[in-house]
Amino acid sequence: MVVFKVSRVQTSPFEGQKPGTSGLRKKVKVFAQPNYLHNFVQASFNALTAEKVRGATLVVSGDGRYFSKDAIQIITKMAAANGVRRVWVGQNGLLSTPAVSCVIRERVGVDGSKATGAFILTASHNPGGLHEDFGIKYNMENGGPAPEGITDKIYKNTTTITEYLIAEDLPDVDISALGVTNFTGPEGPFDVEVFDSASDYVKLMKSIFDFESIRKLLTSPKFSFCYDALHGVAGAYAKRIFVDELGAQESSLLNCVPKEDFGGGHPDPNLTYAKELVARMGLGNSETQGEPPEFGAAADGDADRNMILGKRFFVTPSDSVAIIAANAVEAIPYFSSGLKGVARSMPTSAALDVVAKHLNLKFFEVPTGWKFFGNLMDAGLCSICGEESFGTGSDHIREKDGIWAVLAWLSILAYKNKDKLQDKLVTVEDIVRNHWATYGRHYYTRYDYENVDAGAAKELMANLVKLQSSLPEVNKIVKGVRSDVANVVNADEFEYKDPVDGSVSSHQGIRYLFEDGSRLIFRLSGTGSEGATIRLYIEQYEKDPSKTGRLSHEALAPLVDVALKLSKMQEYTGRSAPTVIT
Ligand code: G1P
Ligand code: ZN
Repeated sequence: MVVFKVSRVQTSPFEGQKPGTSGLRKKVKVFAQPNYLHNFVQASFNALTAEKVRGATLVVSGDGRYFSKDAIQIITKMAAANGVRRVWVGQNGLLSTPAVSCVIRERVGVDGSKATGAFILTASHNPGGLHEDFGIKYNMENGGPAPEGITDKIYKNTTTITEYLIAEDLPDVDISALGVTNFTGPEGPFDVEVFDSASDYVKLMKSIFDFESIRKLLTSPKFSFCYDALHGVAGAYAKRIFVDELGAQESSLLNCVPKEDFGGGHPDPNLTYAKELVARMGLGNSETQGEPPEFGAAADGDADRNMILGKRFFVTPSDSVAIIAANAVEAIPYFSSGLKGVARSMPTSAALDVVAKHLNLKFFEVPTGWKFFGNLMDAGLCSICGEESFGTGSDHIREKDGIWAVLAWLSILAYKNKDKLQDKLVTVEDIVRNHWATYGRHYYTRYDYENVDAGAAKELMANLVKLQSSLPEVNKIVKGVRSDVANVVNADEFEYKDPVDGSVSSHQGIRYLFEDGSRLIFRLSGTGSEGATIRLYIEQYEKDPSKTGRLSHEALAPLVDVALKLSKMQEYTGRSAPTVIT
């Protein structure tokens, strides 16, 4: 048995270690500087308090991006030195973000232990590789991201840190081999357990969905399926679930081998970056070979995001969560006794609001970022929630869940086609169009201006806030651009008071609300690693069933015009077009 010593290493603070919307994200080169990761990890241990860290069972894994393997060894050595009792690592360091949440909540270790928290190593949908991004975030005992109280403390600690603890002589653990390695330190035993990345998550999915009925759909000659992991960690789950459990063909999996650099791509499941899938589904400008599949989906690097596509058809994430909520009770066994409530992030379209109203469900509008949903779920107030940014999920865990969303859609398709698989298939497009006919349609788009000069972005936002003090002035500008656009009746900065703990989050996005329910929202991203990213969200509600079939960009053109002029986008940023449109 190896006995290790604890060293105290002198260090000094690095600037800018403030966790954003979802942890700390920086270029690999920044993270790889001597002491950089160490400082952040020690600051996190100190924020959690020594009392809680001592004896803890800590999950350490992530989406497998470049630098993860080094980071796992460093964190393991620091955990040992800080008195952690055991570290759990997914085989090869791989665990999707939703799987980490599942493992914290559900997994029982070989010695009967339960996890108390996790370091998740991911920068989510940001590219990976030597010149790209790395990231780290801490999740708590409920399986959800650390609340602001903790992340603020972590940040504060990073500004004053003077030393960290590390077991320098602890040998590197082989994270490719399943099993437990035992060590002994000054405070007693310390173990590292490497476990199968998928089995706990697969078990949870089988307890939520009716795998038998999904299997019938996936193996029906009427149906065809395609899943693109964009070389992210979702690949570690896709074969196990879609092929081994549900009978899909192996050829239906695209880019499902996780890679450290995501194959050089941008692992973000949207119409811009999921190029191969988009082409296969008959969308975009590319030539499609043969008949596209009936259903397609993609995930981001850490597999918490999802994009849902039908044959030549895109489902907006805002519609997706509304449609899942509208059909959950009938189609998904986990929800058969009813929904506790539903929630969306503020910039997400109001499609979910309309469903909540129809079904008389509790409804919540929270700031951007998944952590706000967690409190509602822990209090039993919310079953299903979603964000416009391709995030959908439920209270089965405390993170959004890309594969869960795909299984939810497959369940709805299986339910709608129950006993009818011999007839004409009810398609993804049919389901969405029927939904619009019942509830109306929320035309929706998001413009992202990435890596804009931070000062210019700040000024643009400040100007939009200043404008809000005079609605007549705002309406003069609006009407000057397009006389056919409704009046702005309200303009503010979104503020949220958590109904569970009473905490208040201010400055959560600038809103312009129009008389006909249309909305323009401006936010600065909290997840970028360079410069600033301005997000502009544009939404228009159409209740008249005869007008819900328009092309989205045509329906939204007047509002887009207004948004660009109102914000003086080009003047401030020098950009004549957004980097990405979703
Ligand atoms: C973005 C999304 C947000 C999501 C977050 C983490 O944050 O907009 O909905 O929760 O990524 O996946 P942002 O960069 O806008 O702060
Ligand atoms: Zn992600």
